Amino acid sequence: MKCRTLNFSPPRPEVKILFVIIQPAKRIRGSLVLPGDKSISHRAAIMAALAEGKSRLQNYSTSADCSATLSCLQQLGVRIERTGKDVLLDGSGNDGLCAPETALDCGNSGTTMRLLAGILAGQSFTSIMTGDESLRSRPMQRVVEPLNMMGANISSQAGRAPLVIEGRHPLQAIEYELLVASAQVKSCILLAGLSAEGRTEVIENEVTRDHTERMLRWFGVPIETGAAEREGVNARFAAVQGPTRFKARDVLIPGDISSAAYFIAAAALLPGSYLEVRDVGVNPTRVLFLNQLRALSLDVTVDDSKAESNEPVGTVRVRGADTPRPSRDPEAPRIMDGLMIPQLIDELPLLAVVGSQIEGGLEIRDAAELRMKESDRIATTVANLRAMGAAVEEFDDGLRVDGRTRLHGAKIDPRGDHRIAMAFAVAGLFAKGETEIEDAGCVAVSFPEFFDLLEPVVER
Ligand code: S3P
Repeated sequence: MKCRTLNFSPPRPEVKILFVIIQPAKRIRGSLVLPGDKSISHRAAIMAALAEGKSRLQNYSTSADCSATLSCLQQLGVRIERTGKDVLLDGSGNDGLCAPETALDCGNSGTTMRLLAGILAGQSFTSIMTGDESLRSRPMQRVVEPLNMMGANISSQAGRAPLVIEGRHPLQAIEYELLVASAQVKSCILLAGLSAEGRTEVIENEVTRDHTERMLRWFGVPIETGAAEREGVNARFAAVQGPTRFKARDVLIPGDISSAAYFIAAAALLPGSYLEVRDVGVNPTRVLFLNQLRALSLDVTVDDSKAESNEPVGTVRVRGADTPRPSRDPEAPRIMDGLMIPQLIDELPLLAVVGSQIEGGLEIRDAAELRMKESDRIATTVANLRAMGAAVEEFDDGLRVDGRTRLHGAKIDPRGDHRIAMAFAVAGLFAKGETEIEDAGCVAVSFPEFFDLLEPVVER
């Protein structure tokens, strides 16, 4: 079945912001509610598209990444209306998607490409997925391999996009142990499992975010999760039984904790600050960053927790340390490594910036995956910390930054990477002099409102 595209809107932001100047801040004061979580929004949209009937997604992420997911779904024939913060999707069932007329453009979004690849693998048509230069340089073999094992026929450019996905329906169920700790790969296989005959099981040896498992449950799809038997490791499994049909369901999406992290870190480190972030997602697989700040004796609490659409939501409160340098062994850097890395993955550049301010500094290890993100985040973090005067050592799998550094303002090149732009905007708040974030519009990839929300809570 071929389909006509309705309402198609490309994901690219129309106005290019050339740069933003950050002036030093005295403190942060305010109360914020943030746009919807990016990871949860992608999953809500995909599940609503596959469901039968109309789902309203409230507080859908405003990110360019999540718009890319909606545009791809529109190209697959799903009717979508966007009004304010809400998205209304009219799903026609897992077998109701139709062949796109042109290549699906995932923009900068790895989550769009990897999760949708799982859906497209189980369709009885061929589709092409592509993206921007950064996305076309990122590893896709990690999804191509299991999907081909399930019976799809996917060809790539040496493991990179564009991907040509010749789908097959039904797919074969598999049991698959993840080779990289990646929630995107886990989710891709579970979503493909919805179109497979039998039980598809994914085993992970390191805990990654579990939004797909929670969203499947919210939409009434039976999913088993639990401890997997593996020697010496704390492995977990998730399994779905296919093929499956399910009904539409409204979803209320909590604020994005990874976006909140920039404000939280700034407030925690600037004495006299008080910040409250309400209605923000506090899923245990996403809040290790908050625990790490607490372990640095920074004053961060989570209260008022409740469940919304099967996701924990709460209020994060932060008080700036009177002395921003927690007292601990001044010689030893704080180490972040091993099993904690997948649960801190998006916050690591920001933690490196925090590390430059604390007693003893910070060392990040076992994080080679950071080199596979929107930019090589080890290289971009190291280069920009050095530009601001920090002493940094670069490792293949991480970095070490000296603490108690009086950063100075500099020109920051985020190399198109939203999280680098935001982490160094925070660094600019406690630097001496002006910091210029080049190509600052790249924050729109996850958080277009970032600079607009930052300005009113900063006191100078
Ligand atoms: C995401 C998972 C993470 C994360 C990305 C979003 C998701 O990637 O870095 O920003 O929504 O599943 P990996 O699972 O590939 O590490």
